[in-house]
Amino acid sequence: MENVLLEINDHIAQITIHRPQALNALNKQTISELSSTLDELSGNEDVRVLIITGSGNKAFVAGADIKEFAEFSVTEGAQLAALGHEMLFDKLENFPKPIIAAVNGFALGGGLELAMACHIRIASDNAKLGLPETSLGLIPGYGGTQRLPQLVGKGKAIEMITTASMINAQDAHTWGLVNQVVPQAELAATCQKMASKIAHNSPSAVSAVLRAIAGGFNDKVNGYNIEISEFGKCFGTDEFKEGTTAFLEKRKPNF
Ligand code: CAA
Repeated sequence: MENVLLEINDHIAQITIHRPQALNALNKQTISELSSTLDELSGNEDVRVLIITGSGNKAFVAGADIKEFAEFSVTEGAQLAALGHEMLFDKLENFPKPIIAAVNGFALGGGLELAMACHIRIASDNAKLGLPETSLGLIPGYGGTQRLPQLVGKGKAIEMITTASMINAQDAHTWGLVNQVVPQAELAATCQKMASKIAHNSPSAVSAVLRAIAGGFNDKVNGYNIEISEFGKCFGTDEFKEGTTAFLEKRKPNF
């Protein structure tokens, strides 16, 4: 792989989007490499948590690659969005293991959409976030019109998208767009620490949590029913037996 770097340690997979010359912008090849990396990690039982970040200190991802789509037709534009949803953005949101976006700089357009499709976002204090597509005569095409209102509410989302303005990390935190803001030098360690905490808990229960919470955002199912069903299924797992036994034996569980 050329544009995606992967490192796995202690149940944590670190994915780095590596196109520094284009501020890690998402071209077709990068989307395809990210997609196949996710497929590979989905089936890797050693991996329990993913962290996604951008190469360098300046950008997480500066958006979809404008140079690549500048000459696209209506049909090609629609295909670009549809393929992106299918290959990457829906895959991230529905990934069976938690994904933390380590937002280490500009997260614009498709870059912010990528972070929003992840389950958790931690930003460095130099991060700038925005959906500037309307300044290009476009709208967000990788889920931004849907996921931004879920995170910040309808009014703030309309403001951010129609003004095409960037907000700083602190405002993103106040608005609920990112979970936490830390100095840039502490970003990697903060994400690793959170990932490690998650990795120590029952992987099957963590996965069930993601399905139950996703159920609440899916119009076609009842989230409460998903929770009831997932809760019940936990009782059939070895991890439930280990977790409860460890509690009763006053020791730490070994998942
Ligand atoms: N696509 C392609 N190339 C990009 C890029 C992008 N989204 N963002 C940055 N680059 C390239 C620049 O063209 C430049 O390359 P060259 O040196 O070959 O000219 C290089 O990265 C460095 O960028 P700048 O010189 O512009 O750096 P800067 O510090 O002056 O500005 C920036 C940084 C404010 C992030 C600016 O690069 C910028 O505004 N980028 C575009 C952001 C944007 O509009 N993103 C939305 C894309 S559309 C989209 O994402 C649609 C969708 O929803 C699917």
